[in-house]
Amino acid sequence: MELSEKLQNLPKQFFANLVRQVNQAVAEGRNVINLGQGNPDKPTPAHIVKAMQEATANPETHKYSPFRGLTELKEAIATFYKREYNVDIDPNTEVSILFGAKAGLVELPLAILNPGDTMLLPDPGYPDYLSGVTLADVKFETMPLLAENDFLPDYQQLSEDVKKRAKLMYLNYPNNPTGGIATKEFYEETVKLAKENNIAVLQDFAYGAIGFDGNKPISFLQTEGAKEVGIEVYTLSKTFNMAGWRVGFAIGNAQIVEALNLIQDHLFVSLFPAIQLAAVEALTGDQSCVKEQVAIYESRRNTLIKACKEVGWPVTAPKGSFFAWLPVPKGFTSQQFADFLLEKADVAVAAGNGFGKHGEGYIRVGLLVDEQKLTEAIKRIGQLNLFKETV
Ligand SMILES: Cc1ncc(COP(=O)(O)O)c(C=O)c1O
Repeated sequence: MELSEKLQNLPKQFFANLVRQVNQAVAEGRNVINLGQGNPDKPTPAHIVKAMQEATANPETHKYSPFRGLTELKEAIATFYKREYNVDIDPNTEVSILFGAKAGLVELPLAILNPGDTMLLPDPGYPDYLSGVTLADVKFETMPLLAENDFLPDYQQLSEDVKKRAKLMYLNYPNNPTGGIATKEFYEETVKLAKENNIAVLQDFAYGAIGFDGNKPISFLQTEGAKEVGIEVYTLSKTFNMAGWRVGFAIGNAQIVEALNLIQDHLFVSLFPAIQLAAVEALTGDQSCVKEQVAIYESRRNTLIKACKEVGWPVTAPKGSFFAWLPVPKGFTSQQFADFLLEKADVAVAAGNGFGKHGEGYIRVGLLVDEQKLTEAIKRIGQLNLFKETV
């Protein structure tokens, strides 16, 4: 039996190779420091786990969920957005509950585009956006995210033809992989562009909670007119260290939300009700865990950047997310540098080209190990004496 053409065309998992290389190095007994992945290292806060345990003990949660999720969760999502961003959300028409943000990101092109339509994607960007492109048989154009533009797309560079063809645009701030954050002005420009050209917008707010130096990342939906053109996708994976639980949601434009809900009516019967009730606790319960978690990432970031500077690596500190986007020294491609670090320093990093053409020249480092390990990793890299000249 052969796979369908569609499945055969799915993008290859670029980072599967990295995982294989790291596993092999570990099997050889090498002391690898893995900075290549994006899995939060801390556990889910205890009060959320407790809410899950209690909910699981209640037989009511063992039944089917309503197709579109529990009212309690949709209301908690609206409460969360009002409290955190002063954004009003109608829990009945403006919320779609997702199996993690990833599900919504992959489903949306299928839900609102037709084969051959064009969407706009950030480059570098989260690789899973391309899965949705293939499954929906759509085309895409990229928007370069460059350091000189603070990793925001420059809409002036989009040709009239591309603007006319584009039906959907993905943004992601705080950004994976660059650590860039969006400004109010940028979102205003986005709404203007979207309205003028009839482009739907999905802003991926997976790292919404993680902003540094006292700057809380803003929500796209705080922008006037944003709800007329788009949605924001949020996840509990990062904010509450719940990556394995698979809880996310899309909120905003009622038509887009309805499209997501409709496709999901045919795929799922929403999430396990006990998980939904634990998500209610996460969104409406004690939020001190979020503050503590962000402080941990910020302290790790500071340690990493200080260590890099000490070895002469000319790096810029990320403003948000839990990634640092570091330039590759002259003479290496991203992939060569990542391979070199694993080989010579037992340090695993993600090669920037895995996130798109404009990721070339960078590597991505996760702030997902303790500070001692981060310091040790940079010390090992420093001993390779590479940073006399960088691109
Ligand atoms: C930019 C971005 N969007 C979405 C996701 C997926 O999040 P979830 O766990 O909710 O599917 C990730 C996870 O790494 C991510 O980096």
